[in-house]
Amino acid sequence: MSQQIPTGESDVAHDAKFPDAIEALRTRRSGHNFDPDAELDDETLESLIRDAALAPSSYNLQPWEFVVVQDDDRLDEVVDLAYGQEHVREAGTAILVVGHTEAKTADRVFDEWEEAGRMDEAAAEQTKAQSVEMYEDERMGRDYAIRNASLAAQNLLLSAHARGLKATPMIGFDQEGIAEFLGLPDDEIPVVLLSVGPSGGEEPERLPRRGVEEILHRESR
Ligand SMILES: Cc1cc2nc3c(=O)[nH]c(=O)nc-3n(C[C@H](O)[C@H](O)[C@H](O)COP(=O)(O)O)c2cc1C
Repeated sequence: MSQQIPTGESDVAHDAKFPDAIEALRTRRSGHNFDPDAELDDETLESLIRDAALAPSSYNLQPWEFVVVQDDDRLDEVVDLAYGQEHVREAGTAILVVGHTEAKTADRVFDEWEEAGRMDEAAAEQTKAQSVEMYEDERMGRDYAIRNASLAAQNLLLSAHARGLKATPMIGFDQEGIAEFLGLPDDEIPVVLLSVGPSGGEEPERLPRRGVEEILHRESR
């Protein structure tokens, strides 16, 4: 641990974990050096997906899917679809984070809101109808897919890093080609492709970040 991050609630026992989370997000990198001989085990893969699924989502609709490619021949195809990004093959695991463009989990999720006593039947029905209708708009549906799935992707990146793995997000790929190759239905779009695997070495130093004084705007832009 390089430094202690104040949490404001230092008497809560589990707060001791918070510095680990801060440390993870401060040291996460997009990696290109993977160990081509090491594999990602199934248990870790499932843990990564479980952590990704803890991301926040609009009405908890969880409008995402994770399509994993580990077969060598299929990885070669993914490398081609990712314009020759070789680190995808070296990582050994490619995960396409997919977003729903329609609120197709709404029946189940609004039942859960109601069963948990968080909405009464009328409110659940009304909110469900509103969200289904809102995401029927083409632009809203696409925004909905990208926003929610991007948050899940970031969870996955941080979880991979915290587990000592390397993970790189990519949008440098043929979107239509990968959707077809992986058999996405019409109401799902590729949001971000991740290469994930055991590290094969150090990454170059991180490029500079824009400073807080430049990007923080108080009250208005
Ligand atoms: C939306 C998005 C698209 C990206 N696309 C690619 C990509 O196609 N290939 C790649 O190697 N890295 C890609 N990256 C990784 C960025 O280059 C990287 O996040 C950035 O240089 C900052 O470095 P860091 O993640 O190590 O802090 C992408 C990152 C994001 C967020």
